Amino acid sequence: MPVTVRVRAERAPGEKRVAASPESVRKLVAAGASVEIEAGAGEASLIPDAAYRDAGASIVERGTAVGGGILFHVRPLSAPGFDALPAGTITIGMLDPFQNAAGVVAAQSRGVTAFALDLLPRISRAQSMDVLSSQSLLSGYRLVTLAADAFGRMFGMTMTAAGTLAPARVLVLGAGVAGLSAIATAKRLGAVVSANDVRAASADEVRSVGGTFIDLDLGTADAAGGYAKELAEDRARRQQELLAPHIAAADIVITTAAVPGRAAPRLVTAAMVAGMKPGSVLVDLAAESGGNIEGSVAGEQLRVEVAGGAVTLIGARDLPSDLAPDASKLYAMNCANFAALLLKEGETVLDFDDELVAGSAITHDGRLVNERVASALGQEVSA
Ligand code: NAI
Repeated sequence: MPVTVRVRAERAPGEKRVAASPESVRKLVAAGASVEIEAGAGEASLIPDAAYRDAGASIVERGTAVGGGILFHVRPLSAPGFDALPAGTITIGMLDPFQNAAGVVAAQSRGVTAFALDLLPRISRAQSMDVLSSQSLLSGYRLVTLAADAFGRMFGMTMTAAGTLAPARVLVLGAGVAGLSAIATAKRLGAVVSANDVRAASADEVRSVGGTFIDLDLGTADAAGGYAKELAEDRARRQQELLAPHIAAADIVITTAAVPGRAAPRLVTAAMVAGMKPGSVLVDLAAESGGNIEGSVAGEQLRVEVAGGAVTLIGARDLPSDLAPDASKLYAMNCANFAALLLKEGETVLDFDDELVAGSAITHDGRLVNERVASALGQEVSA
């Protein structure tokens, strides 16, 4: 029996993405799977049911993609989501396991094999499956369009017979995938862009997309897997002090700094916001995870009084969903590329010797199989 890959219409209000595209369906069918997609699942991503059908999928009623086989999802499944699945189901999608203990425990007790694509080891073979990268790339672009909209002035230097408009000065703090995408986007709009990050490789990465790297002479803070380490308190305070004049000089501040498994580092204090020029804009990608900017609220655009006027402080939320057609196209292929690792002539074969399979598996056969997640939940990995 070939395995069935099922794709849900996302349940979270406001979520426009979907975990399948016509292209990903064709890939799954070619790998020997049959594909079932809930009716209307692609609507908000501008993918009609007919396009899925033409690619070889069957369309099923909403709420019925809960059988066994493989289930693709975008948003992390919660405990009730896992409870509805038969034992032996394989789930593939973002799981946010460190913040979703109830979901992980439900997956374990239901005997579901849950793969967290957000925990894939970031080795080169994983690039085509890397949901954090594909979605962060879009977030970086969206951060800039949000800032541009609120700024209400031109980004690029413009010379006219009636006078010259100065370019916007954009400062990007945190230059990972989203930050680099923001730098490249702001550059394309003509802004003068500078950036800071704490990883050793970041200076070259910032320059490669056209930004000026601000070296604070703080030393680097690299952790395993290409991620940053949390700065000790004294270095974090020093970083804030050294950033203060750069923030005061910026028209737009975009923050994307994150440290896996920790609250986002606080880079911009309320006093620094208060020291900005009237009309400036700040956008905080980390608003949902602790906030790089003091006072930011996810999903809200706040007016903050400063001397002589006000600045706009935007807390980002669900940015990839704002660009759903593009986000879904990339996310769907991330899922299909990962599923292809598990499919052998249409059957699922789980090879836990493969570091991508082992690295992203959270629960299997009633067991918690990921050490980091187990220790975060205060449990031991079961044999
Ligand atoms: P992330 O979302 O965990 O963090 C965003 C950025 O914040 C990082 O660049 C981090 O260094 C920075 N940051 C943390 N604390 C900071 C502080 N106090 N001040 C300023 N910046 C701070 O990281 P993301 O975007 O997921 O990627 C991080 C890196 O992972 C990439 O730049 C790359 O080196 C690596 N990567 C590797 C891939 C691969 O396939 N080999 C794919 C994607 C990323």
